[in-house]
Amino acid sequence: MSILVTGGAGFIGSHTCVELINAGYEPIILDNFSNSKRESINRIKEITGKEIRFIECDIRDRKGLDKVFAENDIEAVIHFAGLKCVSESVNEPLMYYDNNIGGTVTLCKAMEAAGCKRMVFSSSATVYGSENPSPMREDMPEGKTTNPYGTTKLYIERILKDLFASDNSWSVCLLRYFNPIGAHKSGKIGEDPKGIPNNLVPYVSQVAVGKLDHLNVCGNDYPTPDGTGVRDYIHVVDLALGHIKAVEKVLKETGCNTYNLGTGKGYSVLDVVKAFEKASGREVKYVIAPRRPGDIAICYSDPSKAKRELGWEATRGIEEMCEDSWRWQSQNPNGY
Ligand code: NAD
Ligand code: WQD
Repeated sequence: MSILVTGGAGFIGSHTCVELINAGYEPIILDNFSNSKRESINRIKEITGKEIRFIECDIRDRKGLDKVFAENDIEAVIHFAGLKCVSESVNEPLMYYDNNIGGTVTLCKAMEAAGCKRMVFSSSATVYGSENPSPMREDMPEGKTTNPYGTTKLYIERILKDLFASDNSWSVCLLRYFNPIGAHKSGKIGEDPKGIPNNLVPYVSQVAVGKLDHLNVCGNDYPTPDGTGVRDYIHVVDLALGHIKAVEKVLKETGCNTYNLGTGKGYSVLDVVKAFEKASGREVKYVIAPRRPGDIAICYSDPSKAKRELGWEATRGIEEMCEDSWRWQSQNPNGY
């Protein structure tokens, strides 16, 4: 059976396609390559030894989507396609609202018209905002988002909940990811940010490989054990496997359910620096810099609902995450 994977050429999408193929599904990638390279699809083929279909299309292109649904027997959609850079979203809010929210609405309309009403959506821990204490639980009220990117995730969740409320034959899983890092064991696919990375681990990797001189640790005066920000880093392969469980759920029953995908453990920026130095055998130079606007001190998940209801739990620890990130970075110093 075919699963349409929007944004399937990207970081999390490519890892999920590998696991979909391993689990016997037939993913079809739909991507406009605005933040990914075609080479990632060749690498998926190399890893799995299977052909994979891909369609170059934008999720805002209704005619293009209608054609995709007409020509393929699509049972469910995993919807990764979206822009994800927090700082860019502050400068270009309309681009984010148009691409992420507009794109999702167009995709849902095309799905509805085609009678395909099963979706797994990439949401984010960012919807918990700054006021909820960790561990974050799905029954906590959504918080105040601090940037347009986060607001797009919050609104899309609401749109999908409203859609289900209006038509109970939909089947939706809203997956709230914490901080995905790591890469496939082969070192063939991984995170390939354009320009200077915004996120911690891609930045640390580029310092370790010698492309950047040092890390700026954004604040060491937070109320955490070593003063630096604490996050719930999750291996991208564990995250991908969570999507397989979510697909099983949406194929089995209708509903609209929200799940955290995290490990439940928090690591500080300096913990990550140490783990990465150990994994890479390289020094990661850093300097203490001011706090980054919009950052919160601590964010980690309570992942027990996903374990209870999806039978999923993360099994890979921080050492393995750093080793796998390093293998990808050192084998592909300039990305794809
Ligand atoms: P990514 O940028 O690597 O992948 C997103 C993919 O979507 C890219 O291949 C991009 O080309 C494609 N895309 C973007 N807009 C599109 C459009 N209009 N039409 C078709 N394709 C489009 O990002 P990722 O890290 O793999 O994230 C995947 C999803 O998970 C995103 O929705 C992101 O917001 C969400 N998410 C990511 C993180 C994270 O830290 N990586 C955390 C929480 C949620
Ligand atoms: C982690 C920690 C920083 C860079 C972001 C989005 C979130 C989600 C995941 C998509 C923090 C510190 C970082 C640097 C640093 N994305 N840091 N120096 O901010 O938890 O989450 O990505 O949904 O919405 O906001 O991740 O990797 O940017 O930061 O010290 O150069 O590393 O302050 O404590 P974040 P991150």
